[in-house]
Amino acid sequence: MSAYLITKRLIIRPVDLIDAKDFFEYAPSPLVGPFAGWEPHHTLMETKSVIKNMMIYNTKVLVGHFVIIEKSLNKMIGTIELYNYIPNFKAELGYALNPKYWNQGYVTEAAKRILEYGFFELKLKRIEAATFVNNYGSIRVCEKIGMTFEGLAKNAYLRYDGKIFDEYRYGITDQEFKDILRKEYQLEEESNN
Ligand SMILES: CC(C)(COP(=O)(O)OP(=O)(O)OC[C@H]1O[C@@H](n2cnc3c(N)ncnc32)[C@H](O)[C@@H]1OP(=O)(O)O)[C@@H](O)C(=O)NCCC(=O)NCCS
Repeated sequence: MSAYLITKRLIIRPVDLIDAKDFFEYAPSPLVGPFAGWEPHHTLMETKSVIKNMMIYNTKVLVGHFVIIEKSLNKMIGTIELYNYIPNFKAELGYALNPKYWNQGYVTEAAKRILEYGFFELKLKRIEAATFVNNYGSIRVCEKIGMTFEGLAKNAYLRYDGKIFDEYRYGITDQEFKDILRKEYQLEEESNN
């Protein structure tokens, strides 16, 4: 995996060991991992080991684990990934951000760029996401990037601590994404005239 994606405020590139310090700034937080399905990290060594596993995964597939770099800070502030990837068909989107930077639109901005990459570069037909039913921030991200709510999956997720959660399922097709871009472009043209 070698994609290097740029947005107005962000760089999105494959995870690397140089990200360990910034990742460990938030990886121990009970506000992050448990909502994304992973156990908070206890030591920097553990974060490095998680990154190594992500990097191994990235060598095996065309997509995988990216980091989100805030350009003006030159700092890694979160992760975003495409997994359960089936070439030319579909993938699942996941993300997690350092709580210091929540609610500033960063994950929405990164996720839109990942959708663009998935649909235009990888030629996917569908990208999906799942979120715990009380994860209001993540639900809102799914809505803001144009995903459709597809339903409630009861007892759908077994977490690392043995707890079972209901999930909301979201999805978007290549055609739906292209329609959104077309509408955004039209609105921009209208506001420029
Ligand atoms: C979910 C998460 C990635 C969102 O990242 P973010 O960069 O803060 O997201 P954005 O700023 O792009 O959008 C967040 C939206 O959720 C809204 N939101 C946040 N908390 C909310 C709450 N408790 N109730 C209602 N809306 C909420 C924000 O207001 C914002 O919507 P708005 O732009 O319409 O105001 C971040 O909270 C996170 O890392 N959480 C822990 C890990 C996680 O849950 N990962 C997802 C697993 S499915």
